[in-house]
Amino acid sequence: MTAGKRVLHRGAPEELRPAEDEQLHPGTVSWSLLAATEQPIAVLGATGYTGSLVCEQLRELGLPVRLLGRRREELEQRAQSDEEIAVADVTDWDSLAEALQGAFAVISTAGPFLQRGFATVDAAITCGVHYLDSSTEQAYSRQIYERFGGRAAEAGIVLLTAFANAPGDFAAGIAADGLEGPLEDVVVATEQSGFVFSRGSRETLAQVLEQPQAAWEDGRLVPSRFGSTTKRVRFPSGEHTVVEWGGPEPLTVPRHVEVRRVRAYVKAPRVAAATGKLASRLAPLVRLSARVGRPGPPPAKRRKSTCSIVAEATGPGGGRRATLIGRDVYGVAALVLARGVQALRDGEARAAGALAPAEAFEPRAFVTRLGPLVQLESLVDL
Ligand SMILES: NC(=O)c1ccc[n+]([C@@H]2O[C@H](COP(=O)([O-])OP(=O)(O)OC[C@H]3O[C@@H](n4cnc5c(N)ncnc54)[C@H](OP(=O)(O)O)[C@@H]3O)[C@@H](O)[C@H]2O)c1
Repeated sequence: MTAGKRVLHRGAPEELRPAEDEQLHPGTVSWSLLAATEQPIAVLGATGYTGSLVCEQLRELGLPVRLLGRRREELEQRAQSDEEIAVADVTDWDSLAEALQGAFAVISTAGPFLQRGFATVDAAITCGVHYLDSSTEQAYSRQIYERFGGRAAEAGIVLLTAFANAPGDFAAGIAADGLEGPLEDVVVATEQSGFVFSRGSRETLAQVLEQPQAAWEDGRLVPSRFGSTTKRVRFPSGEHTVVEWGGPEPLTVPRHVEVRRVRAYVKAPRVAAATGKLASRLAPLVRLSARVGRPGPPPAKRRKSTCSIVAEATGPGGGRRATLIGRDVYGVAALVLARGVQALRDGEARAAGALAPAEAFEPRAFVTRLGPLVQLESLVDL
């Protein structure tokens, strides 16, 4: 495309649309080596901690990368010699649409998403570009399904929100597969060890503490909050107390499993549940902590972190527990996003629209591709 050419604004919400006579920003895209058959994967947030890891994973998979961000110099420094860069700011819809032209998909790691995410998903649908994000904000992902799913399906575009957390939904799909339904309960619980938050994750956590949260009860989403319920769950390290949090599974699992209740949990002492009522008061402290320190754990420390994701599905005929184990928690997030876009390129998505991970892809086959960082440790009857 040429600089100054207009792009379509058909679907953009009123507040995101530029004035009719506004011109696109000339020269915001560096078009180097764009081969028609090799549509690049745009990475928005490529200057950030997670975005950099996503770029690394895409390169390892041999996928062409276009680095997107608001600071041209920083993008130039980070891009490899054969890679494209495009300057885009999420507060400027035109710059996003320009930067997405000709891309196959965009992976956005530019959180917090409730604050910064919607213009990108809107521009992606308008430009005919698939969309994935690393959101951990359930309230954001809920809006992706509810507000953007229909438009994406019509446009033949796949939206994979909260896809960095896809292992939880895949584990649920594996546990539920073949059980007699409708199921009573699906519980997805995560345990992490040696995990250090990036600054961006702390900034997002501060927002999450102030956001509404939902659980799936009796076939619909109902209000919930951090610590609203607790449980005991068996991890490879033993049985532990887990505390409810706003994971994506109450949104995603009912999209592919007929089930009455779905809640997401994280391993934490039972006393942590009490902080749920104080969550909004903790937010300013967490926000302050996001202003100091390194961007994220250094590589050696990052690689030592581990996680286990347990999904228990129970129904009238019995139940099953699927356990995934992983190492290098941020590395896993980047790998999942890169493998997601690769599966889209390989034509594996089972539908268009805003899809849950296990709705888009066959869960077991996808998890196999997450090795060596993630493995299915066990699948047992309960
Ligand atoms: N689910 C998971 O497992 C998982 C894992 C990792 C991360 N995450 C989430 O991913 C998000 C990013 O985390 P992070 O640690 O990578 O954060 P980060 O290092 O702060 O990176 C944020 C990125 O967003 C960009 N950005 C900020 N404002 C922008 C704007 N107006 N226009 C365009 N780009 C903008 C930043 O660009 P500048 O460099 O110009 O500031 C930076 O590249 C967080 O929401 C985090 O919770 C989730």
